[in-house]
Amino acid sequence: MANDTSFYKPVSFSVTVITELMIPSYSNFGGKIHGGILLSLMDKVAYVCAAKHAGNYCVTASIDTVDFLEPVEVGDLVSLMASVNYVGRTSLVVGIRVISENIKTNKIYHTNTSYFTMVAKDEANQPVEVPGLILENRNQVRRFIEARRRKQLKQNHKHEAEEIIMPDDVAVCRQMLAGERCTIAN
Ligand SMILES: CC(C)(COP(=O)(O)OP(=O)(O)OC[C@H]1O[C@@H](n2cnc3c(N)ncnc32)[C@H](O)[C@@H]1OP(=O)(O)O)[C@@H](O)C(=O)NCCC(=O)NCCS
Repeated sequence: MANDTSFYKPVSFSVTVITELMIPSYSNFGGKIHGGILLSLMDKVAYVCAAKHAGNYCVTASIDTVDFLEPVEVGDLVSLMASVNYVGRTSLVVGIRVISENIKTNKIYHTNTSYFTMVAKDEANQPVEVPGLILENRNQVRRFIEARRRKQLKQNHKHEAEEIIMPDDVAVCRQMLAGERCTIAN
């Protein structure tokens, strides 16, 4: 079915935006919003976007780097904009841009951008094919190419990480860790 474009959907079909007011119960001891609140909202918007494209229930398979660039304050409006950047066979990558807005000053901050890999599941909880993607502009083509590249880099990184061999000799470990801020106790 991969080349049957009747099974494809445009990116615009599943573009999703969620806006939420940051209330006091979302804050940490420093008065800023908990990172976990933002992660939960990101997971929610990724799910809506992915499920809409897939036409099926989806699960989060992995999340690519979440860097919090700016603190979010109580009273801010946080908006999460999600779109499908890439589709594989049963997985798809949702790109999410998060911004926070101070209602009084109208200042807008880009708090983070992240990529959620979601997998569509059928009634039997098995991965199921997702529709192909119709790229409607150059930005969408760029995002697809970038997402494919990130996927390849992640696979390479995984293979490299698997190749790391833990030495039996503690002296060799000490040598490997020379210059690091740790010490081996025994
Ligand atoms: C993610 C999950 C569906 C993969 O299942 P699996 O049996 O390994 O399935 P497959 O190997 O056939 O992979 C299915 C797709 O997921 C992708 N995938 C699997 N693990 C992945 C990972 N860690 N990161 C990115 N993509 C991943 C595969 O590349 C494949 O994509 P494709 O069909 O587009 O090529 C399964 O491990 C799962 O259900 N995990 C729990 C998810 C969940 O509950 N999330 C919520 C957290 S509480």
